[in-house]
Amino acid sequence: MRIIKIFDTTLRDGEQSPGASMHVEEKLQVAHQLVKLGVDIIEAGFPIASHGDFEAVNRIAREVRGATIAGLARARHADIERAADAVKPADSGRIHTFIATSDIHLQYKLRMSRDQVYEAAVDAVKYARKFTDDVEFSAEDATRSDWDFLCRITEGAIKAGASTINIPDTVGYTVPQEFEELIAYLFNTVPNIDKATISVHCHNDLGLAVANSLAAILNGAGQVECTVNGIGERAGNASLEEIVMALKTRPKFFDVDTRINTPEIYKTSRLVRKITGIVVQPNKAIVGANAFAHESGIHQDGFLKERSTYEIMEPETVGVPQSTLVLGKHSGRHAFKARLQVLGYQLSEEELNTAFDKFKHLCDQKKYVFDEDIETLVAEQVARTPEVFSLVDLTAESGMNRTPTATVRLKVGDEIISLTQVGDGPVDAAYKAIAAITKTRSSLTRFEVKSITGGTDALGEVVVAVEEEGRTVRGSGSDTDIIIAAAKAYVNALNKLAIRRRDTQQDIESI
Ligand code: KIV
Ligand code: ZN
Repeated sequence: MRIIKIFDTTLRDGEQSPGASMHVEEKLQVAHQLVKLGVDIIEAGFPIASHGDFEAVNRIAREVRGATIAGLARARHADIERAADAVKPADSGRIHTFIATSDIHLQYKLRMSRDQVYEAAVDAVKYARKFTDDVEFSAEDATRSDWDFLCRITEGAIKAGASTINIPDTVGYTVPQEFEELIAYLFNTVPNIDKATISVHCHNDLGLAVANSLAAILNGAGQVECTVNGIGERAGNASLEEIVMALKTRPKFFDVDTRINTPEIYKTSRLVRKITGIVVQPNKAIVGANAFAHESGIHQDGFLKERSTYEIMEPETVGVPQSTLVLGKHSGRHAFKARLQVLGYQLSEEELNTAFDKFKHLCDQKKYVFDEDIETLVAEQVARTPEVFSLVDLTAESGMNRTPTATVRLKVGDEIISLTQVGDGPVDAAYKAIAAITKTRSSLTRFEVKSITGGTDALGEVVVAVEEEGRTVRGSGSDTDIIIAAAKAYVNALNKLAIRRRDTQQDIESI
């Protein structure tokens, strides 16, 4: 079977989702998980964009083994040099250089002629080849480009040494039949096309990113660019899990395979959700909360008689944990560790001790502890943002005839600061106290609450978005006490803002 290469761009295009920016430590965690998932290429960032981006790509190239590490570069020497430096320590490093090819971009953005763009593309590929044999060239806005110009630039880039040519649907404009025809046209027209892998990179503005990617695969594309949970610029990128599971569920139709270790899908999705704070819609295919839930009586009846009546893939195939009652108050450290292993978590002794303390704390608050609870608890721990502020304690009072009050104790550096505030409700009071202690100038733009499992004692998860000087970050927190979960989420977001501010300061200093 033909193997389709999975090029994951969660850390680059995915990070371009509003509010999704990730710190270097968080990117490293995602990169390690992507290797477990089995992706072929990890696009780790855009090294010239910022000091933080360079550092993330460079550390991933140094520390992550088992996948090719790519860095993005415009078709300019300075970008290419920076990307080359960043990916240099990788066992296998790739420079991914791009320039727009559509007349709209040429006229309004680049102010260049087609000949100038052609020369820049060929020069960029040749220059990148001085640093590595693995060079990918992308024709940005390919689907709105003149097809013959696209063929000409593809031929030139291959001749200059590109081993992968990417055809992006940058603005999510194409439709499957048209994209199929474009890919077929390239294969039939470009004389040296067999010397390169043809890749596609589809955005989801019309909700067609996955369909378009699959159409291209059927017509010879050998690489797809995608993101976990489909996050990315505007409406996002093609979703990795949807493409992979379509290929796996319909092997006779597609007659291709990937190297993805599908039972790692769900865990990867959770990690990305946790780190970026971008929630996954409940009806999202493959990884949404309802993706394997059968609600109607007729469906349940059929499903119980024979699973395949209403289920085209089994949840275990993508690593969705089943809601089995596993552990409780009397479970020991050994049983907890064994359960974590079943769920796919290998923690160090120190991490295990912290997780076990949290688990015991949870057992005091919640009678039944489900796999999802354990998963939330551990995912939160492994996806930790470096802490500038940490929540030490919170007490809140509210009632029908009381003024809601909250007292928050926060650790800021080596100091513990305590403050009491009143508000419209206990969460509002706690947020006012946190805002005053941290002296934040940000504003809260989103607040969402969700329960992880059923029941009034369920773990609640809060996701918030905060905005400061045009920059949005998201934070998340979970606890059986929803006010504490809300406070954790807010502190998590403020930590991200503080780290971001520090990185920006470093960028300014390094200019
Ligand atoms: O959407 C796009 O065109 C891109 C390119 C840089 C590949 O992200
Ligand atoms: Zn893109």
